[in-house]
Formats: sequence, structure tokens, C-alpha cells
Amino acid sequence: MMSSVPGFAYSDAMKYSGIVWDEETLDRFLADPLKRVLGTAMGYGGIKSSKERADLIAYLKQAGRSEACSRASSGDPSGSPSPH
Ligand code: HEM
Repeated sequence: MMSSVPGFAYSDAMKYSGIVWDEETLDRFLADPLKRVLGTAMGYGGIKSSKERADLIAYLKQAGRSEACSRASSGDPSGSPSPH
């Protein structure tokens, strides 16, 4: 399944890209976003260095374990503290 954050207006290009995000697809996307997903709204030139991409992906991986991140992906972007 594609990952997405509720409430974000993705471009049709991204919606229909069919990308299933993992470390490999993220790495390929970040190398050249505009070429990977033709028509993406992510107007960003990409990261040419594979070492820099690997470092970024490692960072995102550990940041993704944070509490704020799991709230956002469970459909609560408000950032309000969980009652539990
Ligand atoms: C290097 C750091 C970045 C990473 C890791 C990153 C990662 C991603 C990923 C994985 C998506 C697809 C999300 C999905 O559909 O699930 C995305 C979309 C997007 N990103 Fe980035 N991005 C980065 C930098 C940027 C920058 C610098 C901008 C703004 C200039 C930007 C703007 C966007 C936008 C607008 C979208 C939605 C694209 C669309 O719907 O076509 N991103 N990004």
C-alpha cells in the first residue's frame, strides 16, 4: 500500500504513481524526484550523492519511530498528546 498523510493534497502524478515506499524506492525517488514521478509537485532537484541519500534515509528511519510520527500516520495530524 502507498503511504500518505491524511489531508495532504497529493498531485495526481503521486496518487497514481503506485509507488510502495521502502528504503529502495525512497532512495531512487530522492536521487531525481522530478524524473521518477513525472509531474510530481515535489519541485526539488534531488540528492545526487548516494552516501547523502543513505544518511538521510537512516535519519528518517529513526525519526519515524518518534511519537509525533506515529500519530501523524495514524490519522491524527493535530499533534495533540495521546490520552493514554
Ligand atoms: C530531501 C528531503 C525530502 C524527502 C526525504 C522527501 C520525501 C518525499 C516523499 C517520500 C514524497 C512522497 C510522499 C507520498 O506520496 O507518500 C514527497 C512528496 C512531496 N514532497 Fe518531498 N521530500 C524531500 C524534500 C522536499 C522539498 C525540499 C520539497 C519542497 C521544495 C518537497 C515537497 C514535496 C511535495 C510538494 C510533495 C508532494 C508531491 C506530489 O504530490 O506530487 N519535498 N516527498
